[in-house]
Amino acid sequence: MLSDGYYINPWSTLIYKTSYDFNYPQIKPSIQKFINKRPANTSALEKGEAWSSVGWQYNPPHLWEEFKDFGSHLLLLLKEIYQANRILDKENCLLQSWLNTHGKGGETLEHSHNLVDFVVTSYLNLPENGGFIEFRDPLEYHKANSYINAEEELWKPVHCTTNDVIIFPGWLKHRVQPNQSDEERVVMTINVGSPNAIQKMQA
Ligand SMILES: [Fe+2]
Repeated sequence: MLSDGYYINPWSTLIYKTSYDFNYPQIKPSIQKFINKRPANTSALEKGEAWSSVGWQYNPPHLWEEFKDFGSHLLLLLKEIYQANRILDKENCLLQSWLNTHGKGGETLEHSHNLVDFVVTSYLNLPENGGFIEFRDPLEYHKANSYINAEEELWKPVHCTTNDVIIFPGWLKHRVQPNQSDEERVVMTINVGSPNAIQKMQA
């Protein structure tokens, strides 16, 4: 007779979650000032009432005084995450950052972050029914010979609240559900990787 069995997972998981008290009401004036200067054009990945400063690396938020303390804690955490992912002796830094704002119905389409080791997504203001980030099953093609209920299993949402911070590999495909709330969703994203990786990519 077999004893009660159970599944084991010897591999590190891909998505790390933590939180930080960003105090959105306090930093909101700085964010509003930044948003007021924004160019009208936005990323093609943004759909509906949605805007991203990803292509506008003028005064990126991770360099703001408001995020200095968060940045110093983040750098310490990233050392552990690089180790846990067995990326050893690789120089890295915070490469770029941007803000995404989503009004009602606004969403971000499927994408990944090329030449980036990790993506750090911080929920500065996530209203109720504000929509979650969803990740595409990275083993999708390996599962070609098994039954997949694609509508329910190909994409998995990660439930979050304001102040949550999600860290995941840049190659992992993701998208953001539409914001169903009347309140604006405000998210800061940081690319982490080798110094000059972005410049080399754009050269
Ligand atoms: Fe992204």
